Amino acid sequence: IYPDAKTASVVVAQRIAKLIRSKQAEGGKAVLGLATGVTPIAVYKELVRMHQQEGLSFKDVITFNLDEYFPMQASSAQSYVTFMHENLFDHIDIAPENIHIPDGTLPQDAVAAFCLNYEKQIEDLGGLDFQLLGIGRTGHIGFNEPGSAPNSGTRLVTLDNLTRSDASRDFGGKENVPTKAITMGIGTIFKAREIILMAWSAKKAPIVKKAVEGEISGDVPATYLQLSDHVEFILDEGAASELT
Ligand code: F6R
Repeated sequence: IYPDAKTASVVVAQRIAKLIRSKQAEGGKAVLGLATGVTPIAVYKELVRMHQQEGLSFKDVITFNLDEYFPMQASSAQSYVTFMHENLFDHIDIAPENIHIPDGTLPQDAVAAFCLNYEKQIEDLGGLDFQLLGIGRTGHIGFNEPGSAPNSGTRLVTLDNLTRSDASRDFGGKENVPTKAITMGIGTIFKAREIILMAWSAKKAPIVKKAVEGEISGDVPATYLQLSDHVEFILDEGAASELT
């Protein structure tokens, strides 16, 4: 628990930078699972600063984003492709071919094969070294909404009503928010060797309390993280304010 989101975000960015540098020192590549949304913005900002001012290189970094709305044009202002480019990729030296984001432009009958291949690409690289997570007010991680199975893989899902309400501002009205998304599964996330879930502000306090202290249940998918011994929650005081 950190006094504020900015301080905590710098700590998380330093952890990611350390992982990237230690992989580079071994001649390897760091495989990172990344999240979008408001929560990781300051982490990405700090990574960009480290790249510009401290020579942190992303040349040997491979990324897999958690999710993307479906359907979604990559060029749309609300796409997670646009978000990642604006907040991180356009400002660092990552190779375009090392960036992976679920494809919101596919015809629906091509999605299942795409999802299997997404899993295979991660596996072929030896799995995710690190996964960054936020948490939605439904308890979702990625877009694994209530009802998601603990062993779920990358797949097409239906977004929860509350998730679509929370996204309505970005889309200028809830009716414009896609009803579906492609997301890595809980099982995909679980296989990462290190997982950090971040949450900021008192708005997230009730769901953080449920995720950390509540009964493990598909009703709050983030509770499955209690079963893992390589998960850390990194919170500001607001998000931690209801923990006992
Ligand atoms: C985003 C994602 C979601 C968000 C969650 C919190 O890639 O997978 O689980 O992390 O909805 O969103 P923010 O950070 O906007 O509160």
